[in-house]
Amino acid sequence: MKRVRLRFAGREVEFVDREAAIKWIGELAERGTGLVRVVYGPEGCGKSALFKQAVEVLRDHGYEVSYISPLSRADEDRLILTEGLRKLFVDLGSVFVGDAARLIDTAVKLLYDAVRRRLTGRIALLADDVFQAVGLDKAELLVKGFLNMIEYPPVDYEKIVVIVASSEGVTRGRVGRHRWAFLHIMWNMPREGFEKLYEEIPGPKPPFEDVWKWTGGNPKALETLWELNWDVDRYVDNVIKSRELMKMAAELSSAETEILTQSLDDPDVLLKRYREAKGLVQRLIENNLIIEIWKRDQDWVDVPPPERDPELGIGKYFAWQTPMHREVVKRVLEETKT
Ligand SMILES: Nc1ncnc2c1ncn2[C@@H]1O[C@H](COP(=O)(O)OP(=O)(O)OP(=O)(O)O)[C@@H](O)[C@H]1O
Ligand SMILES: [Mg+2]
Repeated sequence: MKRVRLRFAGREVEFVDREAAIKWIGELAERGTGLVRVVYGPEGCGKSALFKQAVEVLRDHGYEVSYISPLSRADEDRLILTEGLRKLFVDLGSVFVGDAARLIDTAVKLLYDAVRRRLTGRIALLADDVFQAVGLDKAELLVKGFLNMIEYPPVDYEKIVVIVASSEGVTRGRVGRHRWAFLHIMWNMPREGFEKLYEEIPGPKPPFEDVWKWTGGNPKALETLWELNWDVDRYVDNVIKSRELMKMAAELSSAETEILTQSLDDPDVLLKRYREAKGLVQRLIENNLIIEIWKRDQDWVDVPPPERDPELGIGKYFAWQTPMHREVVKRVLEETKT
């Protein structure tokens, strides 16, 4: 199978690692998806990269694939089509639209057309970050729409695969309470694969061990650190400012502040003291600082993180998205004290 080439740290790199995820996509391709599959994972853990690789996996299984990513800046990233669809797109005189709802519509129509014209009976829709694009309050409706595509299609397909990616943990509760979707978690990269990505970055760089302890294997965090000349303080400061976390801290009750302080050492305290921490958990998830691990033993897209890794801030039920996110909160708490 061809490994896709991706932009990373100012150069082109080959998609690395994620063997288990590639195998999982292959299995979905063999069976098709009866429900919509939704992949949740920390910001920048590599969901979009995996989707781009998934286009290749599905193509190898005879699928025509529409990948849409309404929030991407570059046109060529917003809509990626396999050859058959690309040709249809041109033949039908379709026009490129930026608006999320119309982009989804175009992608789905092309897939149906491919079946009608007997290009293939196997179709796949990979919808990247669509909840954020249509509005988080519409996440459920969108998933329901995708399920209709599977259950009541206007064409007679042989197999269909629909996968959605999201880093918006707040939508998980709403999407998960229906039987419309099957939820999966994706974690940051495992150490070995991440090291390969680290080696792609030329020039002087801190030892791998340090980079691992800061990023916990998050490729976007690695890329951003490279961009900031490995200045961790600046990274932390940027997150605090851009998410207005000083304001968040100022609004916490004293019990919440105490729980938050304890969660720096053990994120599972958020579950142990959930009755008092409910609002706090919500804010931490909304600000993409932690991720809830609602299932430990199954349904991971790739390799799950260890059950507990205090150094990286990983617990059984909750985990800091990366150690630097934990550092962000630590800094905020220190500054509010003074
Ligand atoms: N397996 C991989 N091989 C090579 N590069 C990768 C891999 N995974 C991620 N990257 C690169 O790391 C960066 C971050 O990954 P990506 O954008 O896919 O994360 P994401 O989870 O989609 O982030 P977001 O939550 O912001 O949408 C990108 O530059 C991407 O190309
Ligand atoms: Mg993405």
